[in-house]
Amino acid sequence: MQLVDGRWQISGHDVQALSEQHGTPLYLYDSQAIRRQVKRFREAFSAFDHRIYYAMKANSNPDLLMLMNELDLGIDAVSIYEIGIALEAGFEARNIIFTPNGVPFDELEQAIELGTRLNIENLSYLDKLGEAYRGEVPCTLRIHPGHVISTDNHDAEDWYQRSRFGIDGDQISEAMRLIKMHGIRVEGLHVHSSSMILDEHLFGAAAKVLLNLARQLPDVRAIDLGGGIRPPYRDEDDHPDLDLLSRALTKPLDQFEQETGRNLQLWFEPGRYLVAECGTLLTRVHVMKQVGGRAIACVDTGFHQLIRPRLYDAWHEIRNISNPDGPHQVIDISGCLCEEDDLARQRSLPEVREGHLLAILNAGAYGYSMASTYNSRPLPAEVVL
Ligand code: LLP
Repeated sequence: MQLVDGRWQISGHDVQALSEQHGTPLYLYDSQAIRRQVKRFREAFSAFDHRIYYAMKANSNPDLLMLMNELDLGIDAVSIYEIGIALEAGFEARNIIFTPNGVPFDELEQAIELGTRLNIENLSYLDKLGEAYRGEVPCTLRIHPGHVISTDNHDAEDWYQRSRFGIDGDQISEAMRLIKMHGIRVEGLHVHSSSMILDEHLFGAAAKVLLNLARQLPDVRAIDLGGGIRPPYRDEDDHPDLDLLSRALTKPLDQFEQETGRNLQLWFEPGRYLVAECGTLLTRVHVMKQVGGRAIACVDTGFHQLIRPRLYDAWHEIRNISNPDGPHQVIDISGCLCEEDDLARQRSLPEVREGHLLAILNAGAYGYSMASTYNSRPLPAEVVL
């Protein structure tokens, strides 16, 4: 978002005018920002034969999906409904990876019928897949991050160990038995490290473990390192350097190729990295109040439309679009739901008055896609620029 002659713009579009045209609350997505992030991602991993499967749970707006398809990305889907939306947006089924957990097996059968790829994360599905299809349906295997990822960061390590996703280290021999018994073709090995990649050696270290496993599985032709790369939400945020993450992969992959003669593809499933920055939630201030010693701007959105501040204590930058040059004041910004609904606390913003338009930044990932109709309010409009 740029300030041009005293007015905020997104890639040349006047933000105030957009709010007048479409009303508030309003999600705006800047397609140029997505193109930029896809380009950055591709450049960082250009040394490898790699493929990006966009994690559409971050944002499944059909126009954004069409853009992802145009950019030749695949899709990481987690429900049969996401698969339906992706197919409608034009993706070929073979470019969709389905990673279900806890859903009835017939959801997997429907996905198989449609021709998507299948990422299996537990022994129960693996056995059922083998029983039902013998060797006819290949899959990738999702391995538990606690087995694959090691890091010096104590909190992150704890997080990986406590994950409930993937086949655990001590279940691998049983997985191998099922694979052999049913003749299942395992085409890839997958790990998703949660949304907190803090360590630039993480991909390299994870690849080593997955590649070791790939030695025992001759059909493996890809390793999938999942998503979890987090663009910064504020200036002081740590963010991993994609080039360093990428460089750490060279040695393990080269070594694997030399020793086995096999050339593996790398797959990634970024969600947030591609779409967080593209999104802005516009909201209008309808009431200014002083209560309980707090100065509060009450706005026409809330955690029904952006749950991240409430659920994760996430920080989203906020701008006063209507008064870019006003003197700063410290206020809280609260949503319109009938319970605690703070979007931001103690923010220094140019003076906010009733009627002003505020922009909540970096709201492209897990914003609209986690929205609800709580308080019977309709979902906000979305506009792709
Ligand atoms: N692959 C798998 C298997 C995943 O479970 C996820 C996210 C991704 C890829 C994409 O991760 P990303 O690159 O977007 O970090 N609602 C939370 C984030 C939940 C992520 C769940 N899994 C938030 O708003 O922070």
